[in-house]
Amino acid sequence: MVTETKKPKTLSVAPMMDWTDRHCRYFHRLLTPSARLYTEMVTTGAVIHGDRERLLGFDPAEHPVALQLGGSDPEALAEAARIGESVGYDEINLNVGCPSDRVQTGRFGACLMREPSLVAECLAAMRDAVAVPVTVKHRLGVDDQDQDTDLERFVETVATSGVSTLIVHARQALLTGLSPKENRSVPPLNHQRVYRLAAEHPELNVVINGGIETVDQCEQHLAHVGGVMLGRAAYQNPFVLAACEEKLLGGQAPISRQSVLAMLQPYVEERLARGTPLKHMTRHILGLFQGQPGGRYWRRYLSENAHLANAGWWVVEGALDAVNRAAGKAA
Ligand SMILES: Cc1cc2nc3c(=O)[nH]c(=O)nc-3n(C[C@H](O)[C@H](O)[C@H](O)COP(=O)(O)O)c2cc1C
Repeated sequence: MVTETKKPKTLSVAPMMDWTDRHCRYFHRLLTPSARLYTEMVTTGAVIHGDRERLLGFDPAEHPVALQLGGSDPEALAEAARIGESVGYDEINLNVGCPSDRVQTGRFGACLMREPSLVAECLAAMRDAVAVPVTVKHRLGVDDQDQDTDLERFVETVATSGVSTLIVHARQALLTGLSPKENRSVPPLNHQRVYRLAAEHPELNVVINGGIETVDQCEQHLAHVGGVMLGRAAYQNPFVLAACEEKLLGGQAPISRQSVLAMLQPYVEERLARGTPLKHMTRHILGLFQGQPGGRYWRRYLSENAHLANAGWWVVEGALDAVNRAAGKAA
């Protein structure tokens, strides 16, 4: 009897400009050993001509880690994908979801949803260039192209490239009149459309993204799709990643916020010794005590002290003391 092997469900942390830099990803990795982490979007021009160590450098502990590219020229994307693979990324992702003006001027990001054939051409060129998986992240639709038939046409065309993992931000993008931030909250979420897409395309690995905040919500989504991707919730309340690791992936998560900090300390001290300012690292851990007694004091202490000229690990210890004092009073 042939038994069908089910692909394991996946958890990932979304690409977020200015947020998911290498320090943020290192921190997230401590919370979840198995989730896939994504870089901020890097344009093909920056990858090909920019300072590679600064733009693409990462710590080996971050694996599995995916490089997200922004671009719309198949040759440049192939070259950038090749570079990404050569520096060790485990996946190359194409951004077809970003709605900013800068991106539209460059004719990439969400506006590419209007050009499915070009997206397929880009993805095919990237796949030809690398052995690691190539994936795409897109929206449900763009402006007036927001019917199921538009999405279906996009997905069918894109799938001709051979790319089979589609990360779908479950809302439309409105390219005129809304800021990128508004485009992440004003167009309503429609998770059902992502479920439908997954049901209609069992041959594809559909990953759902948008508005997912808790382990229970992840569990509900995973009944319909192959993976969940968390963005703002992972950044603003990172300990949710530890709960997801344990409950969804069956992995070993850190037992406490304090133990995460103990694991982070050697990394921070090493980077400090190399000249990275403390605030570049601590800005990503402001949410660690989100919803906990003393969480406010944690944020305040870090914000008030991490920028000081002599800032070192003592700032994190001071913030932890502030949490403990507040928690002691609350008890
Ligand atoms: C600060 C910020 C920066 C973002 N930058 C990117 C980006 O570089 N590439 C991308 O595909 N999406 C980007 N996004 C969108 C997220 O990846 C994600 O699709 C969106 O926030 C919805 O998921 P969420 O509700 O879980 O946050 C960004 C979101 C935020 C909040």
